[in-house]
Amino acid sequence: MHASLFPGQPAPRVIVWIALGLTLAVISPGLPLRAHDDHPHAPPLAVAPAEAHRPSRLPDRIILSPTADPAHGMAVAWRTSTDAPHGLAQLAAATHGPELRERAVTIPARTEAHPTDLGPSLCHSVEFADLEPGTRYAYRVGDGANWSEWLQFETAAAHPGRFQFVHFGDAQNDILSMWSRVVREASRHAPRAQLMIHSGDLVNAGENDAQWGEWFRAGSFLHAQIPSLPIPGNHEYVKVGEGDAATSRLSHHWRRQFALPENGPPGLEETCFSVVYGDTRIVALNSNEKLAEQPAWLDELLTRDRRRWVVCSFHHPIFSAAKNRDNALLRAAWKPVFDKHGVDLVLQGHDHVYGRSGLVPPGDPPATIENAPTGVNRVDPTSGTVYVVSVSGPKQYDVSDSHPLMERLGEDTQLFQIIEIEGDELRFESRTAIGALYDGFTLRKRATGPNEMILRNDLLPERRRPPKPAVQPAPSAP
Ligand SMILES: [Fe+2]
Repeated sequence: MHASLFPGQPAPRVIVWIALGLTLAVISPGLPLRAHDDHPHAPPLAVAPAEAHRPSRLPDRIILSPTADPAHGMAVAWRTSTDAPHGLAQLAAATHGPELRERAVTIPARTEAHPTDLGPSLCHSVEFADLEPGTRYAYRVGDGANWSEWLQFETAAAHPGRFQFVHFGDAQNDILSMWSRVVREASRHAPRAQLMIHSGDLVNAGENDAQWGEWFRAGSFLHAQIPSLPIPGNHEYVKVGEGDAATSRLSHHWRRQFALPENGPPGLEETCFSVVYGDTRIVALNSNEKLAEQPAWLDELLTRDRRRWVVCSFHHPIFSAAKNRDNALLRAAWKPVFDKHGVDLVLQGHDHVYGRSGLVPPGDPPATIENAPTGVNRVDPTSGTVYVVSVSGPKQYDVSDSHPLMERLGEDTQLFQIIEIEGDELRFESRTAIGALYDGFTLRKRATGPNEMILRNDLLPERRRPPKPAVQPAPSAP
């Protein structure tokens, strides 16, 4: 027991604690103790969007995208505050140890002002060119003083091999809260995926910076390491004008915050384009505008350089699975080209349900599923395309009563798709937000004619909403 300097007084340690408590209460009126005393029932305050998504000189929203030839080129885009106007990227072949830092080359960025509803920012982008195929690279972005971490990616292989990618339908709503788990679950099941395709409606309001902030935060470093191909949906378009004169245009966020290929038809740069991974040609189409211009472009492209596998992706489905969403105009405009070139797989969003067709034959399709071909291994004389509609976010609609050609349906289920292509085989899996296998099939190339389609039978039971109770007619007045 030590002697006290203040006989008859509380021990010094107690005095210090009391003094500290009083000081904190005075200088920190926001502390819970004081707030609780003053407003015992005050609700917690939400952080304002402008604060939650404020840019700084540190780069954020870093997103990698393939160039048209991802064996030799990649592009990256990112965001900063306006006081970091000199964007730079550094690139090196990735090394076992830290020596990549000494070997890195520095590339100046293209920088654009990006005014948003939450305030001004800057968007920067760099294209990494002349890369070696099948090679792991490390890169970072910044301004010379403020840098991101070193991030790694791999270029596509020079020769066809195994190619795996992931598809997400509409993320759109409660993105950070509810879509994060889907994109992160996908990375658990396909950790070495070479590409992520987003078939539109990434956000609900195309010029709402907080929603874009949520989308980027949800994918976090996955966006910076796995190249992405975002494709615009109707929610990435914004209304212009009023009444009969109203039109829509692509959100100003799109071309600034992504660095996508510009090899599509004029006027559709970064919304309609194509990239090649080995034996697979991926085609992004824009189902929001210039519908008539795209079939001729696609026809010419596939005539010139089809590749063994062709996967098309866009937002509005050719065959809808949701109520009141049939899109006959788009089907009439685009399906003949898909038929002519035997497009293997079409990935779509928009419907907020799940629907997957069998091998849809060329020509006008049957109007309803009652007339659709059935069976596990179907054969058609020329070609057949599998159409998929999916949703990854929490907004869910009703499946239509008439869902032409759809063989597997789903409601109230957040999903992602893993597609793996190797030689003559395409393996497709549709998985739920907790990774359960919801749908799956394999397509096999045959010497002639359409693909063989083999369905998986180890699937989760179909998830459908319980039937709604029939509406009883009101009793007639006596
Ligand atoms: Fe949507």
